[in-house]
Amino acid sequence: MDIRLLDDAAIADDALMREWYDVTRRAELLGREHMPFWSFREFLGAFRSPDSGERHEMYAAYDGDVIVGALVIWFPLADNTEKAYVNLAVDVPYRRRGIGRALLARAEESARSDNRSVLLTSTQVPFEERREHGHERFAEACGYTWSIDEILRHLTLPVPDDAIQGWIDAAAPKHEGYTIETFVGGVPADLVDGLCLLVGQLAVDAPTGAVDFEEEVIDAQRYAEMMDGVKSMGRVTYETVALTPDRQVVAQSTLALSTEGDPVVFQWGTFVHREHRGHSLGLATKAVNLRAVQSARDDLTLVTTQNAETNDYMVSINERMGFTPIEVSAEFVKRL
Ligand SMILES: CC(C)(COP(=O)(O)OP(=O)(O)OC[C@H]1O[C@@H](n2cnc3c(N)ncnc32)[C@H](O)[C@@H]1OP(=O)(O)O)[C@@H](O)C(=O)NCCC(=O)NCCS
Repeated sequence: MDIRLLDDAAIADDALMREWYDVTRRAELLGREHMPFWSFREFLGAFRSPDSGERHEMYAAYDGDVIVGALVIWFPLADNTEKAYVNLAVDVPYRRRGIGRALLARAEESARSDNRSVLLTSTQVPFEERREHGHERFAEACGYTWSIDEILRHLTLPVPDDAIQGWIDAAAPKHEGYTIETFVGGVPADLVDGLCLLVGQLAVDAPTGAVDFEEEVIDAQRYAEMMDGVKSMGRVTYETVALTPDRQVVAQSTLALSTEGDPVVFQWGTFVHREHRGHSLGLATKAVNLRAVQSARDDLTLVTTQNAETNDYMVSINERMGFTPIEVSAEFVKRL
């Protein structure tokens, strides 16, 4: 077995990328075959798009000419620079031969040489197996410790419009003076800095278990790159924001959906600025955004979302909207 760093030529090679993607797909869907998984187009768009705020390294574990394991390490560049995020997958027939351990050792070598001291990874497991699942045992065997559980939830679509109207009406009296606006494919230039500042605070305020996060730095250039990345993935974002009378962005909620016909909607962040909580702006932005995507497409089947189990405020909004728990994303950390 031989672990190779994928260079630019390898990443530009569709056949090689397809083989790598198929390994991750088989590995990650084993035992959870019904779960949504991103398409090859979405995967290519994500890994081939530049992001000035984060670089990544991709590796393939080869057995002869066959890819049997896949590893990615992401290195934040503008904030949280002591951290690196790791994702790895070993193809099903090749498990329990030390390939996962060897891939993680390579990740650690690379992280160390870039002065990273905190490695973060996660794995998706059924509720009944949490703390006992083989993938968690693997993480522990490699020196990682559990940090927090995030819960993945699904909302079945379509949601009747009168239910959405009910949430909008319940929230409205609490947020008089704020306006709620929705933008498809990115916000206008005058709102970009405010939105980026707000979104950067999410990881500081949301519960993150045993690991603390610094504010994320997103500037207008990075925002434009992210929007280009979304487009090359064949997705479009619906961004609903709450604005003060002087058009400060104080709350936001993002949904991403496919432009290629995939019926699954991805809930990205929802965040209310600390000084503007208590006005039902979380529920209002989420409900308005949901109505916007449902008005655009009548074939959508579900929204998928993920939050820390201890994020009571967000979880209570999701429960009110009818999201149901599906599985656990167990988050692990290793300090080098
Ligand atoms: C988790 C995963 C990467 C492990 O890959 P692997 O090549 O089978 O792992 P290794 O052979 O290097 O295992 C190293 C040690 O981890 C532990 N381990 C690995 N898989 C395990 C399992 N299913 N049950 C119990 N312990 C396990 C064992 O202690 C093992 O050592 P041993 O085989 O000598 O007993 C693989 O199962 C996978 O791709 N899962 C789906 C993706 C995923 O969850 N990735 C994130 C993991 S944090």
